Formats: sequence, C-alpha cells, structure tokens
Amino acid sequence: MEIEQLEKQALTEIENCPDSGQLEELRIKYLGKKGLVAERMKTLPAKAAAERKTFGESLNQLKNNIARALELKAEAALQSPSSIHLDLTLPGTPWTTGHLHPVTQTITEIENIFQRLGYSRSRYGEVETDYYNFEALNIPRNHPARDEQETYYVGQDTVLTTHTSNGQVREMEKGLLPIRMLNISKCYRRQSDITHTPMFHQFEGLLVDQTASITDLKGTIDYFVKNYFGPKMQSRIRPYNFRFTEPSFEVDVTCAVCKGQSCTTCKDGWVELGGAGMVHPNVLRNGKVDHDKYSGFAFGWGVERCFMMKYNVNDIRLLYSTDLRILQQF
Ligand code: PHE
Repeated sequence: MEIEQLEKQALTEIENCPDSGQLEELRIKYLGKKGLVAERMKTLPAKAAAERKTFGESLNQLKNNIARALELKAEAALQSPSSIHLDLTLPGTPWTTGHLHPVTQTITEIENIFQRLGYSRSRYGEVETDYYNFEALNIPRNHPARDEQETYYVGQDTVLTTHTSNGQVREMEKGLLPIRMLNISKCYRRQSDITHTPMFHQFEGLLVDQTASITDLKGTIDYFVKNYFGPKMQSRIRPYNFRFTEPSFEVDVTCAVCKGQSCTTCKDGWVELGGAGMVHPNVLRNGKVDHDKYSGFAFGWGVERCFMMKYNVNDIRLLYSTDLRILQQF
C-alpha cells in the first residue's frame, strides 16, 4: 500500500475510533514495533540509494502524522461528555458524619438530669494537691485507705485526681452556701482490666444545706437511677466505709440484664453503682462550713460504669479502642 494511502486509512480509522481502548489498539497497529509503519521501515535498506532518502523521509512524516492524530483524538476523547461516565440516576455516596463519643453523650445526659434537681456543674483540675485529693477528705498520709486508689504521683505532693471527691472541699471553700455541685471530671488510677482504664470519668454530687438528710440522698439516688436507667429500675443503699462520709453507703441498681431476677452478671439481681454518704464533719470543718448548722451528702460514680450498665457493655476498654464499629452503635 502506498504511503499516502496508508496515512489516509490510519487517519480515518483514528478519527472514527469510538473509545480510548481501541485508540491504543490503533497505535499498536500502526506505530507498534511490529506495526505497519515499522514493516515499511524494514524495506528501507533494500531500496536503491536514490530512493532511500525520500522514502525514509516520507515514512517519518507518516509516523509523525499518525502520532499527532492519535494524540489529538485522545485529548478530544477526554473532553467529550460521553467519556465522563456520569450517570445521574445512580444513588449518591453518603457523607459519613461523626457524632459525639458515647462518654461525652453520657456526661451531657447526667448533667441534664442533675440540672433538674438544681445542681450546677463545677470543674476542677486533673492535677491535684495531696491535700484536696486525700488529706482534706480525712485520709491522712500512711492511711491504708490510700492503697485502694492506685494513685499516680506527679510530684511529692501532687497527684492525678484519683476521684472527683477532690472537688468537695474546694467547692466549700468558695464560701457560697447552700451547695449543689456536680463535678464531672477525668480521674486516674493505675489499673487496667475489663472494668478499669487508667483514665476514666466520675461525677460527684455534693449537697450541703441546713437540713440535708439520708432520705434526701436516697431520693436523689432514686431520681437519677429512674431517669438515667429507666423508670422501672430501682436502687438500694448498703452500709459501707469511706473516710470522708459518715455514714457511708454503697449504691446498687437493678441489674439491667436480668431485670432483677439474678443472673451471672449480677449479685442477686443488683449491680453496684458506686459510693455515697453523709459528708463527714471533719470534711465540713476543712471546708470552713459550720457543721453544727449544716450537713451534707455526697456521691461519686463512674460515667463509663453507668454507660456500661445501661447498655450491657462488658469491657470498658472498648470505649477507648477508637473502633468505629463500636462507637457507631451509640
Ligand atoms: N470517691 C469515692 C470513690 O471514688 C466515691 C464516693 C464519693 C464515696 C462521695 C462517697 C461519697 O470511690
């Protein structure tokens, strides 16, 4: 085939080529190592010397023209609407939206429940002096009660708050009575297992008033339990011992799994929520509150623990694993 004819054929085929895949096939057909142009190049040495130069030149010209045509066609294909493959009838890809962490959600929920009882939120630092974390709460140095708290010491007299009770005397020192404080903060203890993480949250309620009684405490506990866990859930208090409350109690809530029927996850249908009690006179004294006129009650419970009890989560560490399969369920 004459060079001119070949060029005509190539350019027509390129022009009519419907998509980029076939364009590549055409490139191979004409410009490939074994393509039609290369085939003619091979005949070059056999040509008479006079003819060789013009034949070579026109082959080069042919090659360039085909290459240029391929390039133009490829560019045009990119811009043509049919190559965008846009199907407006396909459903869109939804944006994945995040939400607040379950612990943050729980904190807000707890805060709202106590707000209805007149409590307002206070915040105290996560680094605390030994005095507010222990001494002011009637826990002197070398007292065995300190052992229970697996404390992280930051300095000789500074600790990472082991519980939110550190806010009790700080709140009293403000000198504003009566007190209805809700201190929700991060707490730290050297423990890690299915019910403990080294960092967790507690919420501490402190009420100091002229007539605060155990009945009020019991009513407050019940209000919280019914509002957070559900109207059918009950609470009970058992005698216990804390250095900063007298008398002290441990609070139990109906087991959410068996609804109080007794199962393998609870004790006779009850699950332990946390501690509470009437504020110890020594603590009132340390807070410069006249303990002849005023009395108070306090309670301190784990935020994560409440959440786990409500939703029957059996490993607290799941909450901090950043596993979206867990977090997206709440
Ligand atoms: N601070 C106690 C704890 O962390 C709980 C508590 C708070 C007990 C207030 C009594 C009163 O275990």
